[in-house]
Amino acid sequence: MTERLILDCDPGHDDALAMILAAGDPRVELLAVTTCAGNQTLEKVTRNALAVCAVAGIDVPVAAGARGPLVRPQLVAPEIHGESGLDGPVLPPAVRALDPRHAVDLIIDVVLAEEPGTVTLVPTGPLTNIALAMRKEPRIVDRVKRVVLMGGSYTRGNKTPAAEFNIAADPEAAQAVFAGGWPVTMVGLDLTHQATADPDVVARIAAVGSPLSEFVVDVLGFFGRTYREQQGFDAPPVHDLCCVAHLCDPAVFTTRDAFVAVELTGTWTAGMTVTDFGDLLGQPHNTDVAVALDKPRLWDMTVQAIAALSAVPAEAAAR
Ligand code: RIB
Ligand code: CA
Repeated sequence: MTERLILDCDPGHDDALAMILAAGDPRVELLAVTTCAGNQTLEKVTRNALAVCAVAGIDVPVAAGARGPLVRPQLVAPEIHGESGLDGPVLPPAVRALDPRHAVDLIIDVVLAEEPGTVTLVPTGPLTNIALAMRKEPRIVDRVKRVVLMGGSYTRGNKTPAAEFNIAADPEAAQAVFAGGWPVTMVGLDLTHQATADPDVVARIAAVGSPLSEFVVDVLGFFGRTYREQQGFDAPPVHDLCCVAHLCDPAVFTTRDAFVAVELTGTWTAGMTVTDFGDLLGQPHNTDVAVALDKPRLWDMTVQAIAALSAVPAEAAAR
């Protein structure tokens, strides 16, 4: 059964790899890409999404969405992603024109056009577009198969000690998504910090020997430098990739069910994904929380996808 998805993203180095896996793995079908302000401004992340489509040969509708969060001032992350939002590689010009619809309308149109229960939403940036789509067209909540989001943490944050960036950027939108009543999988930092692009992985990608693989190596090179300088990582955690990998092969990580809610009023804890794996809060569990990664499985499929999009024989990308 091919998993079919809409990727709502803020490219973003790890968003770029999520796009590439979604396009290159035969087990999933990328229906559309939508963008929201997050790692950088809407204009920059949208240009970056179109550039990734150009370099990877991705030919799906791309629509721009929210310029900023529902309530709070906008956050961006140049310290990690650079001024362009995708510093490092040379970004090719767009090949495909931007879809004229707003991202929210594209999401609604696709979900209503497809059979109920067949489309998964994969947000890998702030959840503003998803929250707006739920409010504009409540029918999508019952039609969407699942929301598999990169965001949150049941331990520590990375934007504040309590909050992960995607949630911290728009806590109100995130709370609407977690409380929406639809199936949600939270792929938080506890999982994604296991997904580091170590030197052996980068070498396997480089060995594919195509313009796309060179692009990915440059993406990981910049991402690795900023993660080392800013957060002391030996290798960059490719957060967003994990969401798409789970659709390709659910065995890529394990999950535990929990109640998750987003703190909105804490002075120091706003944007925290409060996670109750038990019954401390007496709330029904509303989220599957990703906990343990099968790292070789993640990188095997990613290298294969890069090779597939590079039109390189699969054996050339074997371990
Ligand atoms: O905290 C990491 C998340 O924030 C990733 O999705 C990254 O791309 C940024 O959006
Ligand atoms: Ca992202």
